[in-house]
Amino acid sequence: MTTTEPKDLGAGELRARAAEALTRARARSVALTDAVDDEDLIRQHSKLMSPLVWDLAHIGSQEELWLVRDVGGREPLRPDIDDIYDAFQHARADRPALPLLTPAEARSYVREVREKAFDVLERVPLQGRRLTEQAFAFGMVTQHEQQHDETMLATHQLRQGDPVLHAPEPPPARSGTLPAEVLVPGGAFTMGTSAEPWALDNERPAHEIAVNAYWMDTTPVTSGAYAGFLDSGGYDDERWWSPAGWAYRTENGITAPRFWKREQDGWWRTRFGVYERITAAEPVVHVSFFEAEAYAAWAGRRLPTEAEWEKAARFDPATGRSRRFPWGDEEPGAEHANLGQRHLRPAPAGAYPAGASPTGVHQLIGDVWEWTSTDLHGYPGFAAFPYQEYSEVFFGPEYKVLRGGSFGTDSAAIRGTFRNWDYPIRRQIFAGFRTARDAGPGEG
Ligand code: AVJ
Ligand code: FE
Repeated sequence: MTTTEPKDLGAGELRARAAEALTRARARSVALTDAVDDEDLIRQHSKLMSPLVWDLAHIGSQEELWLVRDVGGREPLRPDIDDIYDAFQHARADRPALPLLTPAEARSYVREVREKAFDVLERVPLQGRRLTEQAFAFGMVTQHEQQHDETMLATHQLRQGDPVLHAPEPPPARSGTLPAEVLVPGGAFTMGTSAEPWALDNERPAHEIAVNAYWMDTTPVTSGAYAGFLDSGGYDDERWWSPAGWAYRTENGITAPRFWKREQDGWWRTRFGVYERITAAEPVVHVSFFEAEAYAAWAGRRLPTEAEWEKAARFDPATGRSRRFPWGDEEPGAEHANLGQRHLRPAPAGAYPAGASPTGVHQLIGDVWEWTSTDLHGYPGFAAFPYQEYSEVFFGPEYKVLRGGSFGTDSAAIRGTFRNWDYPIRRQIFAGFRTARDAGPGEG
C-alpha cells in the first residue's frame, strides 16, 4: 500500500500526547459551558440539540465507560446514570425531560472521571490489547469530546440572545487570484488508512480505488457565489433540485441558508448572536445537502464523490502516495487551516495557501464541512471497532458523507481520511460544499 506510516512512538511519548489532547479537549468543553449561566445550560435551544449540560455529562460518561471501566478495569463511578447519557436510549428532543445531573454535578462528575482516566493513562500497558495499542482508546475518547465540542458550538449558534463567544477574525485572502477549478488526474489511489493510529473504524482499512479525471473547485463555494444562485431564483426553480430536495424545500419553506435573512440592501445573517451582512468571499455555511446539490446543478456541475474529495485532499502525483493532509504529513498548524474554534467563522477563499494540496486545491481541511454525493458505507474489509454504534449502525442511504472539518473542529478530530455524516436535510452543522465536474476526453 502506498501510504504514510506514522513513525513509532515510545509509550512515554504516547502517554504525553494523549494527556495533552485530552486536556485541550477539556479546556474547550469548559469554555463552551462556562460561557452561559446554569439556566442556559439546562435549556433546550433547539429540538435538534441536547441541552449543553447533557453533552457535558455525556462526555464524562463515555470517558468513564471506555477509559475508567474498560481500559482501566476500575469500578464504575456512576452506573446509575449510564442510561440517561446513552445517546441511543433517548432522542435529543427527549433529553431535557430526563433527570439530568445539575450543572454543578456534571462539572464535578467530569472532573472525577478525568482524574481516574489520567491515573489509568499513567499505569495501563499500551500493548497487548488492541484498544490500548498506540493509546487508541485515549485518542477515541479525545475525538469524542472534541466532536461534542463542535456539537455544543452548533448549539451556541442556535441559541437566542446576546453574543457570549468571542474570537479574533480569521486571516484574509492571501493567495492572489486563484483559478476557479483544478484538474485532478484519474487513476487509482489509496483511500482510507490502516496506519493512522487514532483513525476510527470507518476510515479503515486502506484500499486502492480508481476515479476518472475530474475538475474540482479550488475553494469551497462562497457566500457571494451562493447569493448568485438565490438572486437568480434558484430556490424557486424545480429544475435544479432532486425530487427529494424539492419536496424538502417545499414542505419546510426553505428559501435561503439557515440563519440568512434578506434585507433591502442584500443578505444578512445571525452568527453567534451577531446580526451582520454576509461576507461574499467566505465559504457558505449552514446549507443542507439538498441545497448544495441544487446549487451544483444550477452551476452546471455536481457534488464530488467521497473518493474524489479524498483523492484531491491526499494524493500526491509526484510520488503516487496518499498523505495524511493536503499539505503533507505534518499535523495541522495555524498556517494550514482554520480549525479548533480559533475563529468563529470560515476564512475567506484563499486564506490558507500553505494548506493547499499538490494539485492546487485549497481549504479542504477546516472552514466548512463539505457535503459529498456519497452515502455512508463501510470500506471493503470494514470491521466495527470498538463498538458498532460509532458508525456501522449509520451505514446506508439515509446519511451523506461530509469531509474536511470546519472552523469548529479540533485538529485532533480531523485528517484527510476522517469521515463525518448527517441527514441530507441538516443545516445546523457547519456545512458547506464545493463542486466538481467530469474531465473531458484527453484531459488528465
Ligand atoms: C460522527 C459527528 C456524526 O456527533 O453524531 C458523538 C459523533 N458519536 N458521539 C455525532 C459522535 C457519538 C457523531 N458524528
Ligand atoms: Fe457522543
